Amino acid sequence: MQSVFNRDLKREFVNRGFSRRSFGRIAAMMGGGVAAMPFFNEPALAQLSRVEAPPDAVMINSNENPMGPCPEAREACAGMIPMGGRYLFGEADKVRNILAEQEGLPRDHVQIFPGSSAPLHQAVLAFTSPTKPFVVADPGYEAGGRAAGYIHAKVVSVPLLKDKGYAHDVKTMAAVENAGLIYICNPNNPTGTLTPKEDIDWLINNKPKGTIIMIDEAYTHISHAEFMSPVVAADKDVVILRTFSKIYGMAGLRAGAALARPDLLQKLSIFSHTSMLPITAMAAAGASLKLKDLVPMRRKTIGDIRQDTFNYLERKRFSYVPSVSNCFMVDVKRNPQDVIAGLRQEKVYIGRVWPSWPTHVRVTVGTKDEMLKFQAAFSKVMA
Ligand SMILES: Cc1ncc(COP(=O)(O)O)c(C=O)c1O
Repeated sequence: MQSVFNRDLKREFVNRGFSRRSFGRIAAMMGGGVAAMPFFNEPALAQLSRVEAPPDAVMINSNENPMGPCPEAREACAGMIPMGGRYLFGEADKVRNILAEQEGLPRDHVQIFPGSSAPLHQAVLAFTSPTKPFVVADPGYEAGGRAAGYIHAKVVSVPLLKDKGYAHDVKTMAAVENAGLIYICNPNNPTGTLTPKEDIDWLINNKPKGTIIMIDEAYTHISHAEFMSPVVAADKDVVILRTFSKIYGMAGLRAGAALARPDLLQKLSIFSHTSMLPITAMAAAGASLKLKDLVPMRRKTIGDIRQDTFNYLERKRFSYVPSVSNCFMVDVKRNPQDVIAGLRQEKVYIGRVWPSWPTHVRVTVGTKDEMLKFQAAFSKVMA
C-alpha cells in the first residue's frame, strides 16, 4: 500500500476535496484492494443481489443471460482447467489484444477486469470526491451512486427525458457544477431505453473541462446502438465499460473491460491489482470474442422473445416502456411489492423497483419458456 499511496497521490486526493475522514476511507480500501470496498458486498447491490429460490423458479430478476456461455466458450473454459495450477496470467493479455484489435484501439487503451463492476466502482473513486459530484440518470443503475456515497461524494440524479423516449438528459447532466464523473448507461438499466449517439457526442464535446464521461456499454450488444470506442481512440475524457456478463452469458465466470486513455486507466488501477484474472474466464472471453455470429444471433433471440412478451403485454393492455435491451419496466399501477410477492408464489422472480418510478417493476427477458411462465403468472397476479 505504501508504494502506491505516496505523497503525490495524497496531495491529489486533498486537491480533489477529500476531508481527512473520507480520505481515510479511500486509504483503507486501497490497503485491502477492491474486494475490501464495502459496497461490493452489500446484498442490495443492484443486479448482484441474490435471492433464495427453488431450483425450478423462473429467474428473471437480475438481467442475467439464461443462455450462459456459448459452446465454444465452454469448451475453451474446460480446456483451460488442466492448466489451472499455473500462473498463466498472460491469458488476460490475449483477451486485451483481441478486444483492442476489434475496437481499433491501441493495446494500452484496454484493460481487462473480472467483470465491469470493478472498473465502474474504481472510476467513481478515481474521479469523484466530496467536491466533485457523481452524475447519473434516474432511474439508472445504482452501483456507481453507492460507491460515491461511500466516499461522501454527492450523487446528482437527473431524470430521464420521457418525451425523448427516456433518453439521458445530457444537457442537464452537463450543467451539473464541478461534476467529477457523468455516467451514461446505453441502453439504460433499468429502462432498456437508448440515448441517441448525437446526444452522447454532444455531451463529450460540451462537458465541463475536467469532467470524465463514463459510458457503460453492458447492454449495447443487445441493442443496435453504436459502440463508442472511436471516442476513446480519439483520446477524449471518456471511460467505456464492457462486460461479458450480459450477451456473452458469463456473469458468474467474470470478465469485463475498461477502454480509456492510459492516464485514465492508471487512475482506476491504483484501487486494485487487475493483472491476476482467472484463466478459465479469460479462455471463455477470448473464445466468445472470436465468434462473428454470436452477438447478432443472441441479439435476435433476445429481441424476438422480448417482442413476444411486449405483444402479450399489449394484448392484455398492460402498460410498459418499450426497451431495446434484455430488461424492461412494467407499470403495474399498484403496490409493486404485492405483484413481486404474488409472482414469487408462482415461482417467478422479477426485478426490483426504483423509488422515482414507484409503480414500475423491472423484468428481465428470460428464455421463451420462462417468459410464457411469466405471462401466465403475471395475468394471474394482476387479475
Ligand atoms: C449497467 C450495468 N453495469 C455494470 C454491471 C455490472 O456487471 P458485471 O460486474 O457482471 O460486469 C451491471 C450488472 O447488472 C449493469 O447492469
